[in-house]
Amino acid sequence: MSEIEALGARALGDIGAARSPEALEALRVALLGKSGEVTAQLKSLGALPPEARREAGAQINRVRDEIAAALAARREALDALALEARLAGERIDVTQPGRDPGRGGLHPVGRTMERIAEIFGRLGYTLADGPEIEDDWHNFEALNFPPHHPARAMHDTFYMADDGRADEGRADDGRAVPRLLRTHTSGVQVRYMAEHAPPLRMIALGKVYRSDSDQTHTPMFHQCEGLLVDEHASFADLKGTLAAFVRAFFERDFEMRFRPSYFPFTEPSAEVDIAWQQPDGSTRWLEVLGCGMVHPNVLRNVGIDPERHTGFAFGMGVERLAMLRYGVDDLRAFFDNDVRFLRQFV
Ligand code: DAH
Repeated sequence: MSEIEALGARALGDIGAARSPEALEALRVALLGKSGEVTAQLKSLGALPPEARREAGAQINRVRDEIAAALAARREALDALALEARLAGERIDVTQPGRDPGRGGLHPVGRTMERIAEIFGRLGYTLADGPEIEDDWHNFEALNFPPHHPARAMHDTFYMADDGRADEGRADDGRAVPRLLRTHTSGVQVRYMAEHAPPLRMIALGKVYRSDSDQTHTPMFHQCEGLLVDEHASFADLKGTLAAFVRAFFERDFEMRFRPSYFPFTEPSAEVDIAWQQPDGSTRWLEVLGCGMVHPNVLRNVGIDPERHTGFAFGMGVERLAMLRYGVDDLRAFFDNDVRFLRQFV
């Protein structure tokens, strides 16, 4: 076997054994590159006599073509192997069950607010809104709590820091008044009546704040406020409305009682209790809300003539309703954010 034939045979063996594109490239350079072995053979042709040169040249060219063909074939084979390996690695098993992303749910308090809004929506009430950072006029004064009125003491109010800027809100007459975290949603009544002429019906749902904390009080809680003003709104309308709400909310009938009470912004005022069936068969009266006929001073404060229009209003604690509906006995459970508790409502 000539030297070139021996080189060709060894080269084909090496190429067939190459395991990677990099190894293959190294072989190509070593054989066919500028200073490769085959190239060196071609260069040495010049030293031969013409007769021998032709024959040797033809032989070297044949071997070079064989090597080039073998390199191309091996490259193709390696590419095919690589593709196969990749396809195997990336194969998707379409029969595998999907991963559960975990479904979230509404918080029971949010759910209860949606339920309340839905029921009053059916009764024709518009959903209204007001700021949680409220001022003394809307939270107290316009609602007939004059400055230093003893009824203010029932609201453990968070006032804004007196830094000369953040603490001032404006009464409707432009006077500067203290700013505070609203202690109830009743201020939305004032805001709504200042912008809408009777006849009107609205509810407002949202957070309120009081500096108070124990098993049945949290510094932040939620209220629902309701207001209707019309030409002949009566206490009988108020009773009928609340009875309809209680029936729709709890999905059953309750005996209800209206107990005389006091709120500065209603006259007369009442607290409503429902007769709650205890597990042992006895009944207990449970307070669910406060209500009354809108006080003439409140109507006057927002420019409504109390000789022509009357109204009723009511306010209830959302957590209280949620606790009764779901049988939750500790208010704080709503705010602990324990998913084991929350998951039960999804
Ligand atoms: N704002 C009262 C409170 O937070 C609740 C209330 C009572 C609202 C009577 C009313 C109402 O609209 O008429 O205790």
